[in-house]
Amino acid sequence: MSAPWKILVVEDENIVAMDLRTSLIASGYDVTDTVGTALEAIDSAQRRKPDLVLMDIRLRGEMDGVAAADVMRTQLALPVVYLTAFSDEPTLRRARVTEPFGYLLKPFDERELNIAIELAIYRHQAQREHENFLREQAARAAVEERALENARLYQAAREAVAVRDEFLSVASHELRTPLTAMLLTVQGLERVVQRSQDERLRERTARVAQQLGRLIKLVDSLLDVSRIKAGRIELSPEEFDLSALATEVAARFIEPARENGSTLVVRAPDRLVGVWDPLRVDQVLTNLLSNAVKFGAGKPIELALQGDDAAVRLVVADRGIGISKDKIASVFERFERAVPVRKYGGLGLGLYIARQLVEAHGGRIEVQSEPGQGSTFIVQLPRWRPDSAAS
Ligand SMILES: Nc1ncnc2c1ncn2[C@@H]1O[C@H](COP(=O)(O)OP(=O)(O)OP(=O)(O)O)[C@@H](O)[C@H]1O
Ligand SMILES: [Mg+2]
Repeated sequence: MSAPWKILVVEDENIVAMDLRTSLIASGYDVTDTVGTALEAIDSAQRRKPDLVLMDIRLRGEMDGVAAADVMRTQLALPVVYLTAFSDEPTLRRARVTEPFGYLLKPFDERELNIAIELAIYRHQAQREHENFLREQAARAAVEERALENARLYQAAREAVAVRDEFLSVASHELRTPLTAMLLTVQGLERVVQRSQDERLRERTARVAQQLGRLIKLVDSLLDVSRIKAGRIELSPEEFDLSALATEVAARFIEPARENGSTLVVRAPDRLVGVWDPLRVDQVLTNLLSNAVKFGAGKPIELALQGDDAAVRLVVADRGIGISKDKIASVFERFERAVPVRKYGGLGLGLYIARQLVEAHGGRIEVQSEPGQGSTFIVQLPRWRPDSAAS
C-alpha cells in the first residue's frame, strides 16, 4: 500500500477545523497540520511538505486564503482546494486566477470532500507529469540541436582547412619559380660584387642572398606540407654514412649556434652506414637543430648518434626553454607552436615535416621536455629500409 496523502488544513474556525481533521483521518488521509492564518499555512507547508492544501478563503489576518493559495501555487508548487461558504464575485475572480484544483462549498459531506481531494491530487500529478514530459522534450530537442550545430561547425571547419590547404599548395608553387630565378640572379650579382672595393655593397648583396635563401626555405616547407597532405612524399633512398652527413649538417649550425651563445657538440661513431634518403634525413636534422638553436636559450646543444644492426638513433638535446606539458602533444602537428609568434619566428611546420619524413622511412620521433630545463628529440630510423633489405 502506498503512503496516505498528506493534507494541510487551513481553516480559522476551530470547530470546523477539528471536524475536518477527524473526517480526513477517518478517510485514511494524513493531516500534516491544522492552522488558522495564511502565514502559518505557508510556514507549515514549507516545513511539512503536504501533497495538498485545503484552504478556507476567508482567513483572519492580513492575507486571506486567496493570497496564501497564490504563494502555495507559485512558490511551493502545491495544489490547493478552496473551502468556501459564500464569497463575493471579486473574491471568487481573484481565487480563479490562482488556478485552484477545486472548490468545496460549505457545508459539504465526507464523500464530496474525498472526491474533491482525489480529483485535485490526480489533476495535479497529471499536470506535473505533462510538464516533466515537456521539459524532457525540450531538453532532448536542445541536445539534437547542439549535435546538428556541432556537425555544421565541423563541416565548416573542414571546408575552411581544405580551402587553406589548396591555397597554400597553389601559393607555394607559384612563389617557388620566381624565387629560384631571383636567387640565381642575386648569386650572379654576388659574384660580380665580390670583386668590388665597396664593402657595404658586398655586405648588402650577401644579406639579400641570405634573406632570399630563408624565403625559399619557408616556401619549400609549405610545398613539403602540401606534398605530404597529398601523399606525394617520395623517398630516394641510397646507401650513405650517416655520421658524415650529421657532421656536415651540424657544421652549418655552428655559426648560428655561436651567435645565440650556444655551443654545438656532435657525438657520433666514425661510420654509420645505412640506406635512407640523404636529403630528407638532412632536412630532419636541420629542423631539429634549428629548433635547438632557436629555443636553446644560449645553452649547450648536443647531437648524438648511435646505431646497432637494426636501427640508428639520432638525439638532439638542448637545455633551453623546454615545452609545457599541455603543448607537448601537439608540437608535431601542422602550424602548432608552443611559443608566441612575435618572440620566435617560424611557421610551426618544422616538426610536422620532420615527423612525416621519419615515418616515411619507417621510423619514429619523440620528444622529452621539461619547461625551463630543455628538450630532447629522439629519432629512430631502421637501418635498412624493409624493401631495400630484400634487394
Ligand atoms: N627544442 C625545442 N625547445 C622548445 N620548444 C620547441 C623545441 N622544438 C620545437 N619546439 C616547440 O614546438 C613548436 C613547433 O616546432 P616547429 O619546428 O614545428 O615550428 P617552428 O620552429 O615554430 O617553426 P618552423 O620550424 O616552421 O620554422 C615550436 O613553435 C616550439 O614552440
Ligand atoms: Mg622549427
